This record gives sequence, C-alpha cells and structure tokens, in this order.
Amino acid sequence: MSAVLIERNEPIAVVRLNRPEQLNALSNQLMGELVGALENLDDDESIRCIVLAGNDKAFAAGADINELSDATHLELYFGGRIDKWDAIRKIRTPIVAAVSGYCLGGGCELAMACDLIVASESAQFGQPETNLGVLPGAGGTQRLTRAIGKSKAMDVILTGRFLSAGEAEQAGLVARVASEEDWLEEAKRVAQTIAAKSPVGVRLAKEAVLNAFETPLAAGLEAERKAFHLALSSEDAQEGLKAFTEKREPHFKGR
Ligand code: CAA
Repeated sequence: MSAVLIERNEPIAVVRLNRPEQLNALSNQLMGELVGALENLDDDESIRCIVLAGNDKAFAAGADINELSDATHLELYFGGRIDKWDAIRKIRTPIVAAVSGYCLGGGCELAMACDLIVASESAQFGQPETNLGVLPGAGGTQRLTRAIGKSKAMDVILTGRFLSAGEAEQAGLVARVASEEDWLEEAKRVAQTIAAKSPVGVRLAKEAVLNAFETPLAAGLEAERKAFHLALSSEDAQEGLKAFTEKREPHFKGR
C-alpha cells in the first residue's frame, strides 16, 4: 500500500500521508515516497502550490518509533534519512501543511519544514521526544524556537506538552485555524490563492523569506533586493504591472 497518496487538481496538488493505523508515523518508506512525490510535483510546471496533509486524526505522530528502536546508530545516520529532510528543504514550490489531530515529533518538524501551516481546531502540536529519552532530530529545536521564541519552545520541548491549535496560532507557529470540518478545504483555498499568483514572484518570495531564518539581516536584505530585481525582469512582472494599469486580471506563465 502506498504510504503517500497524490491528488492532482491543477494548479494545486494535495499529497496525503497514508499510514492511518500508525497515525502516519514517518517510516522510511513514507519519507521516501513523500520526497519522490514532492520532487515530481516540484518539476511539474502545471503545479503551482502543494498541500501536504494527513487525516482527521493525525498529520503525523512523529518518526516511526519501531524503526528508530530497531536500527543501529550508523544505519540511522548514514541510511539516507537526513538526505530526505534536506530534499524537502530544497523544494521550490510553496507547500501548505494542512494539520488535523496529532502533529508530533518528526510530524511537527515536517509541518514546520513546509511554508505555512493551516490547522484544524483539533490539531495538537508537540515535540515529545524527551519522553523517549532523545530530542527532536529533524529541525525541531531550531525551527520551533524561531517560530515561537525560546521560552515557549523550551516549554514544549523540555516538558513534552502539546500546544492546541489556538495556542499554536497565537504563538506564531500556525498561520490559520479552521473548523474540524473545513481544515483541508481551507488549506486548499490558501493553496489556490497562492497558485493564482506569479510563480516567479512566489518562488523567489519563498526563497527570500526562508533566507530570514538562515542569514543575518544585512545578507538577507541584500538577497531580497537581488530576488526583487530578478522578479522584476520576468515576463510575469511585466504582465502583473500591465494588468494593474489596464484594470484587468493578470495571466501569469511562470516566466
Ligand atoms: N511510531 C510508530 N507507531 C506509532 C507512533 C510512532 N511515532 N505513534 C503512534 N503509533 C502507533 C501506535 O503504536 C499504535 O499502534 P498499534 O495500534 O499497533 O498499537 C497506533 O499508532 C495508534 O496509537 P495509540 O494507540 O498510541 O493512539 P492514542 O490515541 O492512544 O495516542 C499518541 C496517540 C499520543 C499520539 C501516541 O500514539 C503517542 O504518544 N505516539 C508517539 C508520539 C511521539 O513520541 N512522537 C515522537 C517520535 S520520535 C521523533 O519524531 C524523532 C524525530 O524528531 C525525528
């Protein structure tokens, strides 16, 4: 059975994590299929935004604990797990994480590796790895701290407590909260809105925002300035500016 399901509805695609019996725990098979799916969609010009979702009960309850217990340290380090997380970081198409239910450990790290999070009121976010005698190993200590600040990140990571959707939104981890019935549709609406913009502008903007996490302010501002002028030289920018003055909708081609 596929651990990942893909629904295409150009210009968006929805990638569903599909190990419901294990609360979508991130097995090696799932991570491999997920990376393959994201890379294929990233290469496809007709897809302009991706939604990554689980099901009502779980986005993902973390790394697969059975696989973690069975593997040797060297297998875990050299077995390609790290490469898969790096591959997700390199996807240029915007990814909206649609989160309902449990979003824990590696699951929370996966949601944070996406570009923004739309959450159901039922969502619960946490990094409970300290319960297992370890710590977050796929970006949790870094991305959560940048998202919600040191004190709250320490609270979540050291005590293992879960954040409700409301608390996560207030803290800045979640962009939008939707009802338990509407979380996936809301994420799709956000994706459709993004997909209607210029792919050139959107991809460069994603890159520039991510730079804010990875560079000092001066270097980030410099990179943003270059990205802005690169976008300005695109056909999409000519079309967007012209459409505004002609009072009509723009038609972006991603060039
Ligand atoms: N790995 C493997 N299997 C998991 C899993 C995981 N992370 N989380 C849940 N499951 C499995 C359970 O073993 C159970 O399987 P069986 O029916 O075969 O027993 C099934 O999913 C349903 O789970 P529960 O019966 O436990 O469901 P619950 O509703 O009572 O509890 C829960 C839900 C609170 C999320 C609980 O399952 C839980 O605590 N899961 C582990 C969460 C966790 O610690 N995540 C961090 C993992 S380490 C990590 O992610 C490292 C990293 O940074 C990369």
